[in-house]
Amino acid sequence: MDDLKAKYLTQIAEAGDENALEAVRLAAVGKKGEVALKMRELGKMSAEERQVAGPALNALKDEINSALAAKKAALGDAALDERLRTEWLDVTLPTRPRRQGSLHPVSQATEELTAIFAEMGFSVAEGPRIDTDWYNFDALNIPGHHPARAEMDTFYMHRAEGDDRPPHVLRTHTSPVQIRSMEKMGAPLRIICPGGVYRADYDQTHTPMFHQVEGLALDENISMANLKWVLEEFVKSFFEVDSVELRFRASHFPFTEPSAEVDIRCSWDNGQLKIGEGDDWMEILGSGMVHPKVIAAGGIDPDKYQGFAFGMGIDRIAMLKYGIPDLRAFFDSDLRWLRHYGFSCLDVPTLHGGLSR
Ligand code: DAH
Repeated sequence: MDDLKAKYLTQIAEAGDENALEAVRLAAVGKKGEVALKMRELGKMSAEERQVAGPALNALKDEINSALAAKKAALGDAALDERLRTEWLDVTLPTRPRRQGSLHPVSQATEELTAIFAEMGFSVAEGPRIDTDWYNFDALNIPGHHPARAEMDTFYMHRAEGDDRPPHVLRTHTSPVQIRSMEKMGAPLRIICPGGVYRADYDQTHTPMFHQVEGLALDENISMANLKWVLEEFVKSFFEVDSVELRFRASHFPFTEPSAEVDIRCSWDNGQLKIGEGDDWMEILGSGMVHPKVIAAGGIDPDKYQGFAFGMGIDRIAMLKYGIPDLRAFFDSDLRWLRHYGFSCLDVPTLHGGLSR
């Protein structure tokens, strides 16, 4: 028994890893191990022999088991030490620069103008970008033969022969949302509708897809004076200047009567545009008193309600405010451009917190 003890304690001490230790355990105290075999021999012994050999075998088994447990713990500690030595991390290294996303200037300008008009009681309305030609033209007092249809360089959706659904177009302006909003909400009504519009046109200041914001205010007692005030407030807030001078120029749109285009006083010094001062004028929007036919097309009584509407290019005013010279770059998805002209996603524009920082 002393031999057995010496043999297994040595083997346990020499076991280099947990697998080797397990082999020793099976050979010594496993079910078919040497100690178990010895225990089976107890049955053949005389009672006196058994009284000596039984406790001695049990003691041997206990001793081997506790040596195994101690060795197992030691091997575990050694393995952990080894892992800690190899898997280390230098927490003092600088962090990797984060590729932070940013807000596109069009999104930024949209957030800004929404904050401004919200303060004046306008809520945001939306409509589909693919619309029927009735919403895009007819309801806005632009009948089939009207030259405005041709002027708008409309994209028509393809229709298979025999398909008699109403013709659909990519909306050429946000004005159809006027009609949809009147149908949905009735009067009185005060909404803006920002969104994408489409025209077949492409140069430094035109892209086939661009953005407009439509405004519409209907009530029993609205006049051009309200339009003028709202637009002046908007322009001052948006361009973050104390005073501006707007020029209302008589114009023509089928959906308004009277109609006016609005220019803003500005100066161009060495290609640098300044808003609110100088001898130049820059056109920024179309507007007018909503034509009675348009109000009727929206399902509202034009004898009771009247109001103003306007339509403004969002990309255009973003270019002006942020000094971006070429509209086409807006839609190139060039990451370098976006990082340069983009805005932090976390700076939500508010009138009290500041629009653009
Ligand atoms: N829909 C016009 C366009 O895209 C812009 C416009 C002009 C909208 C006058 C209006 C308006 O609501 O009253 O050119």
